[in-house]
Amino acid sequence: MNQRKILVTAALPYANGPIHLGHLVEYIQTDIWVRFQKLRGHNCLFMWADDTHGTAIMIRARKEGRSEEEVIAEANAEHQRDFAGFQIQYDNYGSTHSDENKKLCGEVWQSIRDSGLVKEKDVDQLFDTEQGTFLADRFVRGTCPECNAEDQPGDNCSKCGTTYSPAELINPVSTLSGSTPEIRTAKHLFIELEQLHEFLEEWTQSGDHLQPEVANYLRGHFLGDPQSTEGAKPLRDWDISRPAPYFGFEIPDCPGNYWYVWFDAPIGYIASTQQWCERNGDTLDNWWKNDAAEIHHFIGKDITYFHTLFWPGMLKSAGYSLPTKVHIHGFLTVNGEKMSKSVGTAFKANTYLDHLPPAALRYYYASKLGSRLDDIDLNFDEFISKVNSDLVGKVVNLASRSAKFVKDTGLSANYPDDGGLFESAAKAGDEIAKAYENCDYNKAMRLILELADKANPFVENAEPWNLRKDPAKAQELQDVCTVALNLFRQLVIYLSPVLPDLAEKTGELLNDPLIHWDQSQTPLTGNPVSKFKHMMKRIEEKDVRAMEEASKIEAEQEAAQTENNSEQFADSEQPMIDEPMTDECTIEDFMKVDLRVARIVNAEHVEGARKLLKLTLSLGGDHRKQVFAGIKAAYEPDQLVGRLVVMVANLKPRQMKFGLSEGMVCASGPGGEEVFLLTPDEGAKPGQRVH
Ligand code: MSP
Ligand code: ZN
Repeated sequence: MNQRKILVTAALPYANGPIHLGHLVEYIQTDIWVRFQKLRGHNCLFMWADDTHGTAIMIRARKEGRSEEEVIAEANAEHQRDFAGFQIQYDNYGSTHSDENKKLCGEVWQSIRDSGLVKEKDVDQLFDTEQGTFLADRFVRGTCPECNAEDQPGDNCSKCGTTYSPAELINPVSTLSGSTPEIRTAKHLFIELEQLHEFLEEWTQSGDHLQPEVANYLRGHFLGDPQSTEGAKPLRDWDISRPAPYFGFEIPDCPGNYWYVWFDAPIGYIASTQQWCERNGDTLDNWWKNDAAEIHHFIGKDITYFHTLFWPGMLKSAGYSLPTKVHIHGFLTVNGEKMSKSVGTAFKANTYLDHLPPAALRYYYASKLGSRLDDIDLNFDEFISKVNSDLVGKVVNLASRSAKFVKDTGLSANYPDDGGLFESAAKAGDEIAKAYENCDYNKAMRLILELADKANPFVENAEPWNLRKDPAKAQELQDVCTVALNLFRQLVIYLSPVLPDLAEKTGELLNDPLIHWDQSQTPLTGNPVSKFKHMMKRIEEKDVRAMEEASKIEAEQEAAQTENNSEQFADSEQPMIDEPMTDECTIEDFMKVDLRVARIVNAEHVEGARKLLKLTLSLGGDHRKQVFAGIKAAYEPDQLVGRLVVMVANLKPRQMKFGLSEGMVCASGPGGEEVFLLTPDEGAKPGQRVH
């Protein structure tokens, strides 16, 4: 057989959030396709990474008082943990915040510049005056300038798919502060996509790169139809730069400006491949500049524009291969409704795995996924009944009712007459393979289950559980079980892209690892049969309910968290960077310092001192302390008299040029005008100890 070279990607999950069951529609779909190709003997790589840049990560890092690097490292580990939990296998998992990606972005950028596609324009950008930051993409919502849909995000419309800049939104609102942002002008770089119109028209409308509905959608909404009376529509310029502050890569020839996250994100596919190549002694050109290598992207319908217009445009300008196919899927709904974080139906991958087995979701999604863009509904009643009746009731059942009777004898030496069941199921292999190839998994599952429906009556009629009672029928028993186990094994091979775990257990049971599709074409004979170990449990309704409950509780906790920790406290991490935490101290160490509430009873300038004020502090009664404090640039003596402060009262007195200083007042800030005295709450009394 002709071995294909196939490079596969799935959309790179944002590093600012956890993996949920919606993402998993795509990631399970991709994993099944990759496993299928590998099972068919093709040279198939799955190249993947986290999408780490953008304002969202920056704001989140700020809020949590951590560096962006820390946030994205944690997300990367969590994402990979979840993927392992769902048996999703990839050949490399990178990050868009990598050296490889930075370098590739620079190269792609240079070619795009050289092609004369970049131009500079002043852009009216929304600025949140309360937060002191430009508002990018996700931090603005408003009405779509194209279709007038309300409450749309700042980068692209979820209703009509148009991309625009946030300042183009009608009635914009900052999601950081809830205020109406003001418009400020900044210089931005744009890619003039219209220059590639003809190429994009040709690429999207011919060949098999896109599902037909996607090609039509692009023509109808963006490209226009050159044949019609209305003619082609110009493509919008793509705003590719963002001014600081921004977490991303600075544009080498435009300091102070960064590539918009959607520029460096898809290049992350190539960067991830680069890492794999370095590890495996291969070259990038072998995969990305080679007509003999196929490139397949799996994405959701919300990011169609980026992958079918921008991305091919970038690849073309930079001299890389164009995608062989962009496979686009619909969205997951839960009981017919959009997934909702606040209601708790945005089930996290991790929460699911606490209660339910990965195989069940993999099979359920496979049974629902077609090659079109329809949304997929998660309905738990259907989920339970499908998994239990199909997998446990019809597939695993074949083995659990026969394997134990041939534990001592193994499989018959010759494959017995089964009335043509094995052979006809072997013939069905081609059609099943075709369905997998076309991402028509629901068809593949249907065809496989039809085979199971034919295999089961064979076992029921042959009644191995009765045969084994009659020693004279030992051979018949072995033959019946040999047939049952072979039909089972054949189904498991067909199912193995979806259910790798079941395939592995079946390999162990029959002492013959399942590693190639062609194993479905020849029966297995003479092999020993291991002790039957349980292969798949029925799904219990109570486990589903427990998962739903856990998710609801998480949603409530998160809502409470955001209330306490709302965006208005988007504190910078700068103070912690300027002055990192000192070494740990014990409570005894701390108690050595006698902090007291004190009242400033006198404050005056000191002749000849540039920074100091002389303070007289009262600790109540006639306890007085004289302190020289470096707060002259920040406070006028008049402002201070009468107010309460916190002082270090037992500090060893120190003779200064201007007199004796008998303590310290507590203040924060870097110094100069930026000094902030600590004030106790109302009711505190001079002389009280602070601890
Ligand atoms: N970071 C971008 C992709 C960059 S690719 C160069 C992104 N990330 S995402 O985390 O928001 O989404 C990742 C993928 O999951 C996307 O393809 C998206 O369509 C898909 N899904 C996210 N929610 C989904 C559902 N509810 N249902 C199905 N797919 C969903 O977009
Ligand atoms: Zn719209």
